[in-house]
Amino acid sequence: MTILAPADPASIVRGAEILREGGLVAFPTETVYGLGADATSAWAVARIYDAKGRPSFNPLIAHVAEIATAQREALLPEAAIRLAAAFWPGPLTIVAPAAPGGSVCELARAGLPSVALRIPDHPVALALISALGKPVAAPSANRSGHVSPVTAAHVAEDLSGRVEMILDGGRATAGLESTIVSFCDASPVLLRPGAIAREKIEKVLGAKLSAPARAEVMAPGMTASHYAPNARLRLEAHELQEGEAALDFGARLAALAAPGRIVLDLSPKGDLVEAAANLFAYLRQLDARGAARIAVAHIPERGLGEAINDRLRRAAAPRV
Ligand code: TXA
Ligand code: MG
Repeated sequence: MTILAPADPASIVRGAEILREGGLVAFPTETVYGLGADATSAWAVARIYDAKGRPSFNPLIAHVAEIATAQREALLPEAAIRLAAAFWPGPLTIVAPAAPGGSVCELARAGLPSVALRIPDHPVALALISALGKPVAAPSANRSGHVSPVTAAHVAEDLSGRVEMILDGGRATAGLESTIVSFCDASPVLLRPGAIAREKIEKVLGAKLSAPARAEVMAPGMTASHYAPNARLRLEAHELQEGEAALDFGARLAALAAPGRIVLDLSPKGDLVEAAANLFAYLRQLDARGAARIAVAHIPERGLGEAINDRLRRAAAPRV
């Protein structure tokens, strides 16, 4: 059941409660409607990918209400702070190295060492984020491949029955997503043109924006900076070979494992949302426990399985 509610103070409080419980709330921003979840919870974020039907785990924008919060989440260089001061709240997203101790979960960052942050210029969005008191991960509130929604009715067409709540705050005025600038390289990079023109940003920076490296444009999920485990992965494993640890799904390999083998099950009950929420953490845990080779159980190619398999195939690909 999806609650479609006018964005009044009571429904915003209810929306924040839903987010706190790991639910999904679509909300208006000045650019487009966002599909929000608690950015600190891999579980909640996994549900975003599920609801959107995304074939891969794109990194998401974490929406915050204050610059101080952004500075706790990311290592913002002086130039980024200048942009933030000039354009926040507003349709600017800043990508920067995630701060040690930052709270945005790894799934929301799609395993990248960086994080995308923005303070939206919309009273409903700001009230919702403040009421939750944590960053809100939100891609545009459409099914994957569809156009970004600028009204609550558009959101309902795509996501009714897939989210807990849609806050109706009228039409999103910009209708165009935020401009994304990355501060992860020697000079600032324009990752996505958007609602703030390049020239305005360059004026504040006093410098030209660089074009992204080719790999970044084509697929953020393919960049080398993604977390890849040290261990070698063997996918679609139906048995365990000598010396292999297991990354299991639905307790398939666990049953075959000799005592003492390392076995982590992404979801013993075979739930793909749970598996997505555990994926990055379990790859790290297997590394930390010194596994050199990992047998990965078959994961069905439906729902979030497609994104999980996409990520696993990249992790298993030969290293350069
Ligand atoms: O206007 C907007 O930005 C809207 C509203 C809801 O805020 N949001 C939005 O989100 O457009 P989405 O998920 O559709 O686009 C987020 C973009 C993606 O293209 C993603 O690749 C990029 O941000 N992104 C996020 N984190 C990144 C990171 N750490 N490094 C590089 N790109 C990142
Ligand atoms: Mg989008």
